[in-house]
Amino acid sequence: MTQKTSALNKKDTSWSGRFNEPVAELVKKYTASVGFDHRLAMYDIQGSIAHAHMLSLQGIISQEDFKAIETGLYEILEEIKSGKFEWLLDLEDVHLNIEKRLTDKIGDAGKRLHTGRSRNDQVATDVRLWLRSTTDQVIAGLVKMQSSLLDLAEAHFDTVMPGFTHLQVAQPVTFGHHLMAYVEMLKRDVARFADARCRINRLPLGAAALAGTSYPIDREMVAKALGFDGVCENSLDAVSDRDFAIEFTFASSMVMMHLSRLSEELILWSSPRFAFIDIADRFCTGSSIMPQKKNPDVPELVRGKTGRVYGHLTALLTLMKSQPLAYNKDNQEDKEPLFDTADTLLVTLEIYADMLRLPVVEHGVVVKTGFTVNKEAMRQAATEGFATATDLADYLVKKGMPFRDAHEAVALAVRYAVDKKVDLSDLPLATLQEFATQITEDVYAVLTLEGSLNSRNHVGGTAPAQVKAAIARARKALP
Ligand code: ARG
Repeated sequence: MTQKTSALNKKDTSWSGRFNEPVAELVKKYTASVGFDHRLAMYDIQGSIAHAHMLSLQGIISQEDFKAIETGLYEILEEIKSGKFEWLLDLEDVHLNIEKRLTDKIGDAGKRLHTGRSRNDQVATDVRLWLRSTTDQVIAGLVKMQSSLLDLAEAHFDTVMPGFTHLQVAQPVTFGHHLMAYVEMLKRDVARFADARCRINRLPLGAAALAGTSYPIDREMVAKALGFDGVCENSLDAVSDRDFAIEFTFASSMVMMHLSRLSEELILWSSPRFAFIDIADRFCTGSSIMPQKKNPDVPELVRGKTGRVYGHLTALLTLMKSQPLAYNKDNQEDKEPLFDTADTLLVTLEIYADMLRLPVVEHGVVVKTGFTVNKEAMRQAATEGFATATDLADYLVKKGMPFRDAHEAVALAVRYAVDKKVDLSDLPLATLQEFATQITEDVYAVLTLEGSLNSRNHVGGTAPAQVKAAIARARKALP
């Protein structure tokens, strides 16, 4: 994009009539937003065409003027798309740049476009249109990532791994079950964006600067033309509300928080100490000094970028804090955090969906590498931390022992096994019976990993059959 400052004549700026001296060069740069809001151009043009059409249908401008405006704006859109459009810093923002170009092209008709409108309701409309389309892309990205997770979960619906609490081995779970926890998080994320979309999708136009306009406008007509669900019902609120931007950034922060948790796990699991998984090489980098290194850069960056998105949320909340009604120039600062939040989130979701994909194998040959799981290492880890101790306690309860007593008996057995450096299932029956006389030969079925998994056979449990059912339900619910 070219951004030129030129010595504009006074008459060239749209508001300079009452000023005695031109704006200082540094102030121009300080106050201009065209450097970042030019990306709203398409939505600005869309909004202007709908507004001008309504003006003509209401008899506020002529049909010929509307046609000239529409043709001129479409030409400008082409100029922008082809990179020919010259963005001028002197013209402050995307709105004034486009309007000036239109007037240069079609004369007085171009000057009539702004009838009954202000940049205050115009910019709020543009941002909402952009954010609505961005929200739809985010939802699509979340769905794509869920579908990668579901494929991976399906391939590992019965792969045993240790489930952790306090990052200590707790109870066996399946890797599929673990992944499905993230599918649940992303399901809530989709619902949050869909809900936020309802409040994004309201039309501010018609509020004009702050109080409405004296022209006989039809706001519902414009709302319908632009696909809004309705109009913002108070003109002061319409131009000053940025709740929708904050909500989007909050929902994005929540997604990033979820992804940062998964990232942290991938980083741990791919370290040689765990060696549970392997991330395809295209998502990792090496070290310039240590030849053996393969660093999980993508998950690490996702973890880092989560902080960046939280920062934008704080910036937007603080931007709106204590702002008196109605529009204030402060609001121009909403765009960069919002744009960066969306850019960060969308690319993160896209990369993540790819990173979690299974390898593609054709005729026994890997044609595309993907996310691989070291089942043996996962299983081994599950056997190392007395993961079935709770199962032994539950077994004793089923034989009539009160749970607290069973807990104590198993704790003593674990202590004994730790001393002997063996697993509970390695202890002979006679030894186990020293901790609880109720124990009989059938205990070994309970102490196995599969026995433990299969016993948790209810909705939400980790039994492989339940994991399969959960995957099927989640697939069905995907749009
Ligand atoms: N560039 C401005 C923004 O982003 C447009 C609205 C300007 N309105 C005004 N009265 N100065 O908020």
